[in-house]
Amino acid sequence: MTFIEQLARFGLMKLDAERAHLAGIKGIKRGALKPSRRVDKPTLRTKVAGLTFPNPLGIAAGFDKNGEVPDALIRRGMGFAEIGTVTPRPQTGNEKPRVFRLKEEQAVINRLGFNNEGHEAVHKRLNARRLKGGIVGVNIGANKDSDDFVADYVAGIQRFADIATYFTANISSPNTPGLRDLQATEALRVLLGAIRETRDKSALMVGYKVPIFLKIAPDITDKTIETIAGEVLDSGIEGLIVSNTTIERAAIKSHPLAQEVGGLSGKPLFETSTLVLAKMRLAVGPHFPIIGVGGIHDGPSALKKIRAGANLLQVYTGLIYSGFDLIDNVKKELEDAVEASGGGSVEDLVGLDAAKIVKSGKP
Ligand SMILES: Cc1cc2nc3c(=O)[nH]c(=O)nc-3n(C[C@H](O)[C@H](O)[C@H](O)COP(=O)(O)O)c2cc1C
Repeated sequence: MTFIEQLARFGLMKLDAERAHLAGIKGIKRGALKPSRRVDKPTLRTKVAGLTFPNPLGIAAGFDKNGEVPDALIRRGMGFAEIGTVTPRPQTGNEKPRVFRLKEEQAVINRLGFNNEGHEAVHKRLNARRLKGGIVGVNIGANKDSDDFVADYVAGIQRFADIATYFTANISSPNTPGLRDLQATEALRVLLGAIRETRDKSALMVGYKVPIFLKIAPDITDKTIETIAGEVLDSGIEGLIVSNTTIERAAIKSHPLAQEVGGLSGKPLFETSTLVLAKMRLAVGPHFPIIGVGGIHDGPSALKKIRAGANLLQVYTGLIYSGFDLIDNVKKELEDAVEASGGGSVEDLVGLDAAKIVKSGKP
């Protein structure tokens, strides 16, 4: 971390969490985030859903909701950037305050409620950077007051098919009432059918099929893991993201902010999200792509996610507490782990511990 970055982080931690985030994005837009000089080893290269990622670590959705800084994040060393969640119409989200830091736990609770500038504004912004390359995924969602959630996802695919490297259908935010109901079997089948069909139609115009990932919640039973796995494998979409934030509070029960409504992210989410990831890896088999996210806070936790079954990783809350040096630390840990295992590639480590984790119930 440069001295300026250290100073900025110190100042930002003194601000209310949401204002700090907005100031952080502004700073990054003005060049505060120095590009990384580190060169990724070829052992980190990862092929997923027809795309080649220079390294498996990306920025999770919610950090750059409006697509303002994907290139700065990639230059800093991220293997890819996911922007959004974007909804068809702009939305202000829930009443403030709506983001809370739980410092002692290295966690955050948020109930933002998909505050974003909407399809048109974000599409325009992404269009302006389209020649820059890099893997930039677009995370799509539904407006809170929509009377047809599925239509909102379909509109997202139609609007961004010419520009998204991949799509994430986010049906797992706890902050839009009714959204997580889309994870139920029948509703999920309808949604996946509609977005896959729309994507296939758009492929006739843009010339390729933009891969689609489905982002799920960690608060699901073993039975739901099995049904989601079955539906997703049948659907013709390309992958899963495991997971979004949790509404569970068991890991932080005694914290004074534990009862704030919203999704919990960061270190206390690691165990649950990694256990669901391992279960999902066993349920979908060794070849179906999964992005593992939830509670990565250092190199070893990132490696555990890979070994639990993640082909790719994403992080958000860990960056708030560890800063952007976390990116290099994670990549070094993964490179060292590949070397220690006798060379090859990080892809060879995916899922090695999935069965062990599921059996013991602990990542
Ligand atoms: C403040 C905040 C806003 C978020 N907004 C979104 C969002 O808009 N869409 C989404 O799919 N996930 C969103 N997430 C969830 C993250 O993408 C990620 O799944 C979750 O935080 C777990 O990862 P982490 O522990 O590394 O933060 C948000 C998370 C936080 C902390």
